[in-house]
Amino acid sequence: MVQTVRCALAGGASAPSIATFDSVNPADLTEVVARVELAGPATLVQACRSARAAQRAWAATPAPVRSQVISAIGRIVSQNKERLAALVTREVGKPIAEARGEVQEIIDTCDFFLGEGRRLYGETVPSEMPDKQLFTFRTPVGVAVVITAGNFPVAVPSWYLVPALLCGNTVVWKPAEYAAASADALYQLFSAAGLPDGVLQVVHADGESTFDGLSTALGERLVDKVGFTGSTAVGERIGELCGRHLQSPCLELGGKNPMVVTPSADLALAVEGAVFSGFGTAGQRCTSLGTVLVQERVHDEFVAALASAVAEAPIGDPREAVLYGPMLAQRFAERFESYLDWITPAHRVLGSSAVGRITATAPRHGFVGDPDRGLYYHPVIVDGVGPDEKLFTEETFGPIIGVCTYGTLDEAIELANRPGYGLSSSIYTTDPTEAFRFRAGVGAGMVSVNNSTSGAEAHLPFGGNGRSGNGSRQSGRWVLDQFTRWQAMNWDYSGRLQKAQMDTAVITPDLDFRLPEPE
Ligand code: UN1
Repeated sequence: MVQTVRCALAGGASAPSIATFDSVNPADLTEVVARVELAGPATLVQACRSARAAQRAWAATPAPVRSQVISAIGRIVSQNKERLAALVTREVGKPIAEARGEVQEIIDTCDFFLGEGRRLYGETVPSEMPDKQLFTFRTPVGVAVVITAGNFPVAVPSWYLVPALLCGNTVVWKPAEYAAASADALYQLFSAAGLPDGVLQVVHADGESTFDGLSTALGERLVDKVGFTGSTAVGERIGELCGRHLQSPCLELGGKNPMVVTPSADLALAVEGAVFSGFGTAGQRCTSLGTVLVQERVHDEFVAALASAVAEAPIGDPREAVLYGPMLAQRFAERFESYLDWITPAHRVLGSSAVGRITATAPRHGFVGDPDRGLYYHPVIVDGVGPDEKLFTEETFGPIIGVCTYGTLDEAIELANRPGYGLSSSIYTTDPTEAFRFRAGVGAGMVSVNNSTSGAEAHLPFGGNGRSGNGSRQSGRWVLDQFTRWQAMNWDYSGRLQKAQMDTAVITPDLDFRLPEPE
C-alpha cells in the first residue's frame, strides 16, 4: 500500500487537498514512495496563524529546557539512522553512504545546538553614566517559514529547524514535494522528541501556492523570518517579496563552484576531489563542482586522469556502493537534458560512453543494476569550456563539469569569480601563498584548500554571496543571527534622568603637552 502524506498542522487540523502529487523512486519509476496531498495557500496562512499563537509559550520555555528537545531529536534520529537513510535513498536516489552522512549531519547539528541552549549568550556592556548598566539579549524572531529543496531532504531542513526551534521560534516548514515522505519521517522524529502542539508544522504545497500563501501571511504580519534553500531564480522572487515587507530572508541558493588546480597540486588528490564534488549526488548539491580551472602546464595530465577515474566509476542502484545514482526526480532529469544542449562540437567530451540517459541502447560500462528502471545519466566532462559560454556561467545541476585552463593565479581568481555565484570554491596547491591569495581573491562564502567544493561540516558558517545568496549564513553559532534578534537594554538606577552624550562626565586632557626636546 502506498503511504499518503498530508500536512501536519496544529491541533491535528486537516487541510483541504487541492491536488495530489506522487513522490516516485527515481531509481525505480514504477514505485510510488508516497502520495502527497497538496494544500492551497489558505493552509499555509492558517499554519502561520497557529504558529503565531504557539510562539509566546515556546519562547517563554527556558532555553535549556528547549534544548532538551533538541537533544532528544538527536538521539531519536540516531536510533532511526538506518531507516531514515534508506527512505532518503528510496525517495531521492542518493547513494546509501551519502544518505547516512546526511542523517549524521542532523545528529551533528543537534549536538551543536543542544549546548547552545545553555549559552545563547548576551552581554553586559559598560554605560557612559554612573549607576547605569547596558545589556544585550538574543530574542527569538517569532514565526519562521522554511522552504527547502529535496537534494538534502532532511539535513538541510535540520539546519533551519534545529536552531530556529532552539532559539524559541515556531516553524512552518514547506518541504519539496518530491521528498515529502522523507520530510514526513523527519517531522515524526521531531514530534517524538516532545515538541508542543503548533511549534513545528509541515505544509505540503506546490511552489505557486506556497508563494501566494507566504505573500498573504507576510501581509498579515504572521511571519517574521523566511528561510529558503533552492534555485537562484526562486530565491530572487522570495527576496523581493520579503523586501516589500522589510524582511531579510535567509537565502541559500545555487552555485557554480570553481576548483582551481595549480601546477604544485597533488593531481591524484585533485582528481579524487573533482570526482566526488562533480558527480556525488549526481552533481545535484548546491556545493557541486561547476568548473575545474586547471593551469595550462598540468591540464593534459589532470584531464587524462580525471577522465579515466570518471569512466571507471560505478554508477547505478543507489542502494549499492556507487558514485551516484539517479537524478532526484523527473523534472531535474528534464532540466539536465536541456543543459546538455549547451555542449558544442568545439568541446571535447569525456567521462563515459555516451551523453544523456543511460539505457540498454546507450549503456554505461560497469553500470550497477538495470538502467532502464530509473532516471540515470552518463557523467559528462566538457573540456575546453570558454569563459563566455553558458556552460561556464550558469549552474548545471546534474552530473556534468566543465574544464577550462588558466595561466596565472590572478587569471584563475578572475575566472573563479566570473559566473557571479559565490557559494563554495576550492584550490589544490602545496604553496601556502597561493592558498591565501586565492582565499582573499575569491568571492565565495566557503573556500576549501586541498579538499573538494562539497562536504561542509555542520558547525562552520554555510552560505554564499552574489547569485548564491544575500550573505546570510547557516550552521554553527553564525545561524543564531538568523533566528534571533539583538535586543539592547539599558537600566539606570541613579534615580535621575541621565542624558546620554549630554550628561556624560568629561575628563579634560592637555593635548598641547610635549616631551622636552632631546638634549
Ligand atoms: C546543499 O547542497 O544544499 O557541503 C547542501 C555539502 C553538504 C551540504 C550541501 N554537507 O555538500
